Amino acid sequence: MATDGMPRHWYEDYERGRPGYPAQVLDVAELSSSATALELAAGTGKLTRQLVSRFAHVVAVEPDPGMRRALVAGCPGVEAIDGTAERIPLVDDSVDAVFVAQAFHWFDNEAALVEIARVLRPGGALVVMWNVANGPAVPSITAVEELLAPIWPRDFGFPLDMMSGDWAPTAWNLPFAERTFDQIREVRLANPQTLDAQGLIAYFGSMGWVANLPDEERQPLVDAMRSHLTAAEYVLPWQTRVQWTSR
Ligand SMILES: C[S@@+](CC[C@H](N)C(=O)[O-])C[C@H]1O[C@@H](n2cnc3c(N)ncnc32)[C@H](O)[C@@H]1O
Repeated sequence: MATDGMPRHWYEDYERGRPGYPAQVLDVAELSSSATALELAAGTGKLTRQLVSRFAHVVAVEPDPGMRRALVAGCPGVEAIDGTAERIPLVDDSVDAVFVAQAFHWFDNEAALVEIARVLRPGGALVVMWNVANGPAVPSITAVEELLAPIWPRDFGFPLDMMSGDWAPTAWNLPFAERTFDQIREVRLANPQTLDAQGLIAYFGSMGWVANLPDEERQPLVDAMRSHLTAAEYVLPWQTRVQWTSR
């Protein structure tokens, strides 16, 4: 899913509205701070900013030029390079850890795992994470959900999994992964996100099916969402599922 060509507001909404990750995600694989960490599908750099604050050397790979621009703007000095999980532009045995946040389900599983195993040093860690729905927003945003329901893809946790479902895109090819990597372990971390009304609108605006609406349809939808969001802030009780293994 390379997303080049998305409207500019999409990148801004993504950065503003999508949740980040709890600090503990950096600890699960017990890596040294001198480690070289590779992040695949770094997006606007939500996890990258945490990685650079912890590890000596961080390389961020992201195929979408708009995402890379946002990444570099929010994380100056980071080594941000074009590439995909299936073709990682690094030499063999060159990193101690590979991190993937909210993106592994977009990869060609087997091709990505072969590439990850190639660039990881023996014993290196693969850490994969997703933010998944873990209960309703507080206060309720049902009225906004109802507005969005007609355009929300049915295979994406309809009506709106963020509030009520259990969409967990933990898309591993397990038999293949476990031939190359150790047993996959998992930890689940609370990751509540507090957003004001504009932030919540940005969250929904960061969905491709909202961002890609023509302006004459998107703007009335945004205005209607805004009219329903009267609270000062909303708490979305995400849960971060972190799965990790070693080569
Ligand atoms: C949902 S975003 C996650 C971005 C970021 N990791 C985060 O947590 O906010 C998915 C990202 O995966 C990237 N992506 C999609 N297919 C990819 C692939 N095959 N290899 C590497 N990145 C890919 C997209 O460009 C996008 O930036």
